[in-house]
Amino acid sequence: MKAPFITFEGGEGSGKSTQIKLLGEYLKVKGVDFITTKEPGGTPLGGELRRLLVEGSADKMDAIAEALLFFADRRIHMSQKVWPALKNGQWVISDRFADSTTAYQYYAYNKRLSKEDIDMLYRFAVGDFKPDLTFILDIDPKVGLKRSFEKSESMEVKETRNENRVLTFHENLRQGYLEIAKSEPQRCVVLNADTDIKTLHAEIVRVLEERFEI
Ligand code: TMP
Repeated sequence: MKAPFITFEGGEGSGKSTQIKLLGEYLKVKGVDFITTKEPGGTPLGGELRRLLVEGSADKMDAIAEALLFFADRRIHMSQKVWPALKNGQWVISDRFADSTTAYQYYAYNKRLSKEDIDMLYRFAVGDFKPDLTFILDIDPKVGLKRSFEKSESMEVKETRNENRVLTFHENLRQGYLEIAKSEPQRCVVLNADTDIKTLHAEIVRVLEERFEI
């Protein structure tokens, strides 16, 4: 079996990182060779771009500049980390990928950028490669933002550039993810993230065991 590329998507505070950690523990027990990674900032060079993208004021750049930087990070991430790992037979689990750009820079910004532009950037940076499976962790933004702000209180550097945006931004974002899932039902699995950690993990494992030989 070809090693799969699995991505996790969702709004702020949807619990992606917790679920990826649990999934990693599960895959380890099963003896699966895998790496976990993230966007933005899955590589040392990408880490520098991440800082520009997630810190500071929300309006320091517009959706077009953001999309370009996210795709620059993505190109570095794919060529330096994701593709080499997959070639090596390792599963790759990524906390966010290109659906984040469609959801944030297109839907959440109320379509200030065209979908064609994002698709064009995708083809330019990534080609026709796609994730094998994408989990979309769906949560009411009011619940997610509360979780996210609680988490950021203990962080030294505040990565709250997006959390500080108005609620409609986060509501558009949520709808955007649901639209993405509707347009690619084979690839995307929407899960209710407003539930306890173990229930959500069990659901993720169920889908995984259905799709792949583990
Ligand atoms: P994180 O909170 O999941 O670590 O992601 C960092 C922030 O970057 C988060 O607010 C979502 C945002 N983001 C985009 O706006 N577009 C993208 O393409 C990606 C990958 C992330």
